[in-house]
Amino acid sequence: MEFEHLLHGGDYNPEQWLDCPEVLREDVELMKGAHVNCVTLGVFSWAVLEPSEGEYRLEWLEEIIDTLYENGISTVLATPTGAMPHWLTTRYHETMQVRGDGGRNLPGRRHNFCYTSVKMREKARQMDGKLAQMAAKHPGIRMWHISNEMGGNFSDSACHCEQCQQAFRQWLKEKYGTLQELNRAWWTVFWSHVYTDWNQIHSPVPHGECLLHGLNLDWHRFVTHQMTDFLKWEIASVREYSTLPVTTNFMFFFHPLDYFKMQKELDVISWDSYPAWHKRKDEVPVAVKTAAFHSMMRSMKKAPFMLMESVPSAVNWRGNNPLKRPGMHMLSSMQAVAHGSNTVQYFQWRKGRGAFEKFHGAVLDHKNGADTRTFRDVTGVGERLGRLDALIRRSCNRPSVAMVFDWENWWALGDATGPRQDLDYQKTFLRHYRAFWEAGIDVDIIDMDGEMDGYALVAAPLNYMYKKGYAEKVERYVDGGGMYVTTCWSGIVGESDLCFTGEHPLRKVLGIRQEEIDAPSEEFKNHVVYGGCVYPTGGLCEVVHAETAQVLGCYGEDFYRGMPAVTENRYGKGTACYLAAEFGQTFLNVFYGECLNRVGIENPLRAKLPYGVTVSERKGETDLLFVQNYKEETVEAVCTGEYAEADTGKEWQGKIVLEPFECKVLVRKESNHNGTDGKERVAK
Ligand code: GLA
Ligand code: ZN
Repeated sequence: MEFEHLLHGGDYNPEQWLDCPEVLREDVELMKGAHVNCVTLGVFSWAVLEPSEGEYRLEWLEEIIDTLYENGISTVLATPTGAMPHWLTTRYHETMQVRGDGGRNLPGRRHNFCYTSVKMREKARQMDGKLAQMAAKHPGIRMWHISNEMGGNFSDSACHCEQCQQAFRQWLKEKYGTLQELNRAWWTVFWSHVYTDWNQIHSPVPHGECLLHGLNLDWHRFVTHQMTDFLKWEIASVREYSTLPVTTNFMFFFHPLDYFKMQKELDVISWDSYPAWHKRKDEVPVAVKTAAFHSMMRSMKKAPFMLMESVPSAVNWRGNNPLKRPGMHMLSSMQAVAHGSNTVQYFQWRKGRGAFEKFHGAVLDHKNGADTRTFRDVTGVGERLGRLDALIRRSCNRPSVAMVFDWENWWALGDATGPRQDLDYQKTFLRHYRAFWEAGIDVDIIDMDGEMDGYALVAAPLNYMYKKGYAEKVERYVDGGGMYVTTCWSGIVGESDLCFTGEHPLRKVLGIRQEEIDAPSEEFKNHVVYGGCVYPTGGLCEVVHAETAQVLGCYGEDFYRGMPAVTENRYGKGTACYLAAEFGQTFLNVFYGECLNRVGIENPLRAKLPYGVTVSERKGETDLLFVQNYKEETVEAVCTGEYAEADTGKEWQGKIVLEPFECKVLVRKESNHNGTDGKERVAK
């Protein structure tokens, strides 16, 4: 999707203020003051848009959209299915979700509907159709925001009603064809749970079957499929009358839904980011996690995405909700832009007076109008985006490194009652990702279906499951000159969660043979000697034998002392490395630092960055370097080359001084920069 401008604005809920025209008038004036050029309307407006079944009231919305447009503010229009009106739930019980324990939820809260329900779909289609017919008449509307944070709110996100059970069975029939195939794939002969009738199959629930890994995995896949089907249904409903682009707002690495699958239906990716800044004095872990989420959103379409929601001050739903310290609002907003966002949008414009979110941060507080620190911070971001618009808008990050993060692997790994019960895929992934972040290297995040060609380095930690064709793809990638890094507890099961037998699918590429895996307790922790230094290993130590691989590090203790813990294998034109043990941050930083050297990738400042500082690069007509300081103190970063600040023209050479929580946008001055673009160095 083409962005005409960088967007600045956010969720606007004027339906809560329709009886206060002076508030609505003030909103428009203050939005202009805050450099807001876009709002999201209608997210939770169903009860006002359709106060009783079939009675549609869209005039108020049309008037607001038009007034905003006359004032230079465009609208992202939401379909209102994120929350249901009472007339709907009262008349059509079957539209409400059924929990795993079999009980049907009562009305209220949000995201409380059955995404299979024929009635829910019918009502959503009628409502969405009315909005779409209206949209055609109002040039102020720029795109669709389908529903809201699909699957959010309730812990398992899924509906277990009879309609969903039927749909699940149908989905399984299409996938497996016969029960015999399904029984084989799920290994049901274990504990004598062979299915003899499709109707015996039930979604995994705590008081029933939940220990059959194949069933659990397919249920996860089905939930994504069915939620995506509802998303497609809503998209088709607006598409009947409108050709505007569509998005839906994602959330972080949201365990219940495979976003790599869902994203295929969207024209542009958007997501809601609520980092827990100021939880600790060291902001780096939060910065790393947030950077990873932004990176994934960009990587899905390899294109600019939208920061659809963020809080201008503090949220209201954590145990304690610290205010953003001076500088953090700008830094947090620019972090999204640094990773490829073309928008900074907030939840929400104005604080409501009542109910659950009355103390959730917003651009406008209950009191003091524009005379607040938050309003000034927001205005500052709006001004800056306006100033840098033309430079930033058409650029995007083009990393030479990719990491594999895959939902199906996450689900299977979480279920695997294996060497440890506390294996955390996300945490492990983030430790590896952090090594690149600290080095100032942008990373694309792909799933197992993602394209590897073109990356100089691909890292796939804890890649427990190999989907069909994955091992062959890795083999081609390494053979063609890529560098592939993976870790212990990888390549254990196939895509229906059955263990591989015979040999590891990448045995030749990795040049090792796995034998057994130790999960030592605290008192038995081991260490590795690597590059002349000693590094502690963590909760997994795999015992492997080097076949063709070179051993770079060995275990220091226990019966597997002296056996390989870090290996590297030349294969074709490339290299495959294996980390047989779980490692901490210090080791990973050193190890990946060497990998990056080997493939000739350095950060765009060509510098070693001080702790808390990172850099991201958006490539375009002019390459832009976003240098971010997550320390609440002034830091100095030594750099190679000359740079000018895009905001002020101020020049830097040899070093850059960053204020506390500052993000500088720099343009490289020299013309003969020979590039950090490792892609060119991948031998092909
Ligand atoms: C989510 C929702 C919003 C709002 C915010 C509060 O992102 O989409 O409607 O509830 O959380 O942080
Ligand atoms: Zn259901």
